Formats: sequence, C-alpha cells, structure tokens
Amino acid sequence: MTRVDFSSEALFRDPGPVIAGLRAQGPLVEARFPVIGRVWVTTTHDAAVQVLKDSTTFTLRKEGGALAGLRWMPWFVKRVASNMLTMDEPDHTRLRGIVDEAFRRRAIVDMAPRVREIADHLADELFADGSPAELVERYARTLPLAVICELLGLPVEDRPRFIAWANSMSQVTSVLGIVRLVHGLLRMLRYLERRLRIAREQGGEGLIAELVRVEREGGRISGDEMVSMVFLLLGAGSETTTHLISGSVLELLKDPERRAWLTQDWSRAGLAVEEFLRFVSPVQFSKPRFVRRDVDIGGMRLKKGERVMAMIAAANLDPAAHDRADQLDLTRKPNRHMSFGTGIHFCLGYQLARIEGMAALEALFTRWPKLTLAVDPAEIRWRRRPGIRSLAKLPVLPGT
Ligand code: HEM
Repeated sequence: MTRVDFSSEALFRDPGPVIAGLRAQGPLVEARFPVIGRVWVTTTHDAAVQVLKDSTTFTLRKEGGALAGLRWMPWFVKRVASNMLTMDEPDHTRLRGIVDEAFRRRAIVDMAPRVREIADHLADELFADGSPAELVERYARTLPLAVICELLGLPVEDRPRFIAWANSMSQVTSVLGIVRLVHGLLRMLRYLERRLRIAREQGGEGLIAELVRVEREGGRISGDEMVSMVFLLLGAGSETTTHLISGSVLELLKDPERRAWLTQDWSRAGLAVEEFLRFVSPVQFSKPRFVRRDVDIGGMRLKKGERVMAMIAAANLDPAAHDRADQLDLTRKPNRHMSFGTGIHFCLGYQLARIEGMAALEALFTRWPKLTLAVDPAEIRWRRRPGIRSLAKLPVLPGT
C-alpha cells in the first residue's frame, strides 16, 4: 500500500514529483484515505477516464443502493448527502434531467455580465478594510457564493447570513469546528426548505423557482430530493470555484511575464482559465466508486467489492495526455484536462465556473494592475484537506 499523505503541504505546493512517483508504480495504487479508508487511486488519464465513463462497472452506491459511511450520521446529514452526485442510474438520470432543464432555462451564459458586475464590485472593495487584504476570504470565496445565491434566486438581504453559514462550514479544523458545521448545516437546511416552500407558494425568479416549475410540469422529484439538490448546487458550486480563482491568482502573482501576457489581451482569458483548471486541479479526486465486477485497468486487476477513485490531479499531469504536462502553459490547445470529471456525473456547473474564473481574473487585475503578494511565495500555505487543493490565505497588497 502507498503511504502518500494526500493532505500534505508538499503535495499541494508541488504535486508533480509526488504524482510522478505514484504513476511509476502503475495506473492504480492502493492508498489509505481519511474517512474513506482503503481505496484504489488512478494515476493516469486513461485509467481515470475508464473509471468515470463506465458507470455500470463503477458505481457510487454499493450493491443494494446503500450510501456508504453514513450509518451513524444524523438524519439531516444523510438527507443532504443523498444527492445526484451520490446516485447511480436510473435515479441519477431522472434528477440530472430535471436540473439540466432548469439550468437550460436560466441560460447560464447570459449571466456573464452580471458575474462581471459582482466581480468588479468585490474588486473595488478588496482593500476597503485595510491593506494587506486576504484575497481568499474577501474575493475568491465571496464571488462564487454571491453568484450561486443569485443563480438560485435567494433574496439579497439573506446573503450575509448565508455567507456566514457557508464560511462556518468550510473551516472545520477542530472539534468546535465540527459542532459549528453541524449547527450551520441544520440551519441552512431549514433555510432552504423555507425558500422552497415560498417558491412553491409564490413562484419567483431563480433556479429554485425554476426547479419547482419543472417539478409541477411532471418532473419526478421528491421534496427531500429537491432540498438535497439545492444543497449540492451550493456546495459543489462555491468551494470549487473559490480554489480555482485563488490558485490562478497565485500563479499570476508569482510570474510577471505570464501576467503581462494575459493582462495585455483579455480575450486570452478563456484559454488561460482552461489551463488554470488543469494546473490548479481544485478537485483532486472524484468521489469513490464501488467496483461491481472484476475488471482490468491498464493491465491491473480490480476485484468486485473494492473501491476506486479517479485522481483528477494525476490525469491532469499525465505526460501521455498533455505535452510538457508539468508546465503551466496559458496558450495550451487542445487542453484535455479532467477537472470537471467526465461521464454521467460530468460537472453541471462547468460553464458557470469558466465564466466566474474569467470574470474574477479580469476584474481583479484591471482594478489593481499593480497587485502584489504581501508575503514571500514560500510562506503561502494550503489547507490540509485531502482531495481539495485550497489555499489557506492569499495576502495581497495594492502595489505602487
Ligand atoms: C472550478 C470549479 C468546479 C470544479 C473543478 C468542479 C468539479 C466537478 C467534478 C470533478 C465533478 C464530478 C465528480 C465525480 O464524478 O465524482 C463535478 C460534479 C458536479 N458539479 Fe462541479 N465543479 C466546479 C464548479 C461547479 C459549479 C459552479 C456548480 C454549480 C453551479 C457545480 C455543480 C456540480 C454538480 C451539481 C455536480 C454533480 C453532477 C452529477 O452528479 O451529475 N460545479 N464537479
């Protein structure tokens, strides 16, 4: 078994060498992961694609349909965990169809100007409470949260409350943190139930109201499924984008040449964000899948009953899939990164994440063209959370 610490600073700071070491052992390595336990991990692009695309052999639920690891959890944790991302066909297909339809009607691409407005406003306010400013908290976290609140149609006056709950949930580093998390989770669940009730009674704007309409028109979704769907959108839609934004800003602040290339011509932002998605790999692993039958992956045998996770970060750095895979190249094309996963669970929010990534960079570097790091890059720290590559803090100065 591999003894890699997937939450180590070394891995997050410079994933290339650690991942190359894993890949040298084969397309699959067996590892021990916090909470999940023993699990196989893919190390190549092809192996990750195989696991994520073959949703008959690799399923999210055990045979019999139970959700793993939740037996001792309170009811509301079970409820929010039982969402589309932890379901297989046919339930997944049914729920994904409903939310796809609701998303289509909201026309995500039309949100771009509004996302930019939110980003401009937050960039304006970056140093409002003093300098240096902590960019993760003040910008990278706030932007996706504001956007997802707006997309869902949550009232603006509720937003600060809502952001405070979400923040309490992302800071679980102690027992007290867990108590706060559970408390925040329950309050948020109650809040979303209330919003759904209001949307059912009064209709309204936003994705929650749209989901209710699709439900009315015959979409088969239960009340509990609706709540966990909204919860999933919030969770999957905010944290991940936060780390894409903060990770990209760090790369640009470290390299004046790259930054100059991008800021000279913002039509390059789309290409650049694709490469940041690959290089930052905010979501490092897929959810674990159960193996339903004995199967070969790249010449290695997985047995029925075992579990496997696609290591997205390893697929993204695989030299067999990307030229000079270890280099950040903002002009890279084509870019076959796997940051949004693949197969039936391919990220629902991929367009929104791209729009947010582009708007965040352009708004920030246009408002603060001389922005600099307030500390030496060697002092930057990542949160020790396995599976998510998240900067703990990114202190910045407006520059002169
Ligand atoms: C940089 C930002 C993002 C990244 C890196 C990302 C990554 C991913 C990945 C890897 C998966 C598949 C996980 C698996 O198969 O185990 C996924 C699924 C999902 N993502 Fe994203 N995501 C991002 C942004 C968003 C946003 C903005 C939203 C919502 C507005 C969103 C909503 C979802 C949902 C609902 C799923 C589950 C889809 C399904 O089960 O069919 N994501 N995402």
